[in-house]
Amino acid sequence: MGWTTVSGKSVPPIGQGTWKMGASAEAQADEIAALKKGFELGLMLVDTAEMYADGGSERLVGEAVAGLRDHVFITTKIWPANASRAGTLAHLEASLKRLRTDYTDLYLLHWPSKTHPLEESMAGLIDVLERGLTRYIGVSNFPADLLEEAEQLTDHRIFANQVSYSLMAREPEVALIPYAKTHRVTLMAYSPLSGVVDPTLDGARQDALGSVASRHDVSSSAVALAWVLRQEAGPMVTIPKASRVEHVMHNAQALRVRLTDEDVDLLNSAFPPAKRDIPLERL
Ligand SMILES: NC(=O)c1ccc[n+]([C@@H]2O[C@H](COP(=O)([O-])OP(=O)(O)OC[C@H]3O[C@@H](n4cnc5c(N)ncnc54)[C@H](OP(=O)(O)O)[C@@H]3O)[C@@H](O)[C@H]2O)c1
Repeated sequence: MGWTTVSGKSVPPIGQGTWKMGASAEAQADEIAALKKGFELGLMLVDTAEMYADGGSERLVGEAVAGLRDHVFITTKIWPANASRAGTLAHLEASLKRLRTDYTDLYLLHWPSKTHPLEESMAGLIDVLERGLTRYIGVSNFPADLLEEAEQLTDHRIFANQVSYSLMAREPEVALIPYAKTHRVTLMAYSPLSGVVDPTLDGARQDALGSVASRHDVSSSAVALAWVLRQEAGPMVTIPKASRVEHVMHNAQALRVRLTDEDVDLLNSAFPPAKRDIPLERL
């Protein structure tokens, strides 16, 4: 599976999500152990947000990356209600304190904002980029036409758009993936396992996943991640969240899976495509 080098860091196509982590003191030791196991296995990209556990997830990530900062690619996000031009700077500075670092690798607008015009939020992102507080900027939950608007508001590269994408949520294939491929915007697939690695999944789908998994001698979760990262989906990173070490180990198996055309056909027929792309939702 192809790794890329971004700002001198080797970034694998599989990172680690942290939504719902950092919320409880009791779970903290296990969550840090899971993140560290991921780093050990090469999952050197971590995704967090100021909104997750009200800053608790960023604090957790700061602790987990201590001593490894130069090797880990950190993504965090600003909540849309905070994303005025001045607010973007103030909120990134607060995130950096919690993360115990002086820069993020990627800073994203978490959702299209119903409070601030896109011009304002983009101006804020450009400011923090030009001040060196982040190496790259991007967006999240942007349909193709709004992504195009964002691109028109800056001469800088919009590095990534983070959206829901999985075997169970194939909406981005309709318009977003074709757009992102042409414009070289990396998609970051969130919730890649949601509803897929799930005991209530119907039998035919379980069977399709299970048979591909046994062909490659890996977990079903690794197959679900390898499908998201298949070549025709274009530049793609995925960020499964696992607070259990065992889950992290299963997910990391995807780094060595190369699905065949036959595997992909089987999965595509068990998990049919969506009819419409992701909707525009402003928060
Ligand atoms: N930009 C956005 O608006 C947005 C929205 C949602 C998510 N995200 C980001 O994307 C990340 C991932 O999405 P997500 O957390 O919604 O969903 P996900 O990664 O698809 O699924 C997480 C769930 O799957 C379980 N799991 C992980 N690996 C597993 C395995 N190998 N076998 C069985 N179960 C496994 C986890 O359990 P354990 O935790 O118990 O291991 C957790 O319950 C988030 O954490 C967040 O960083 C971004």
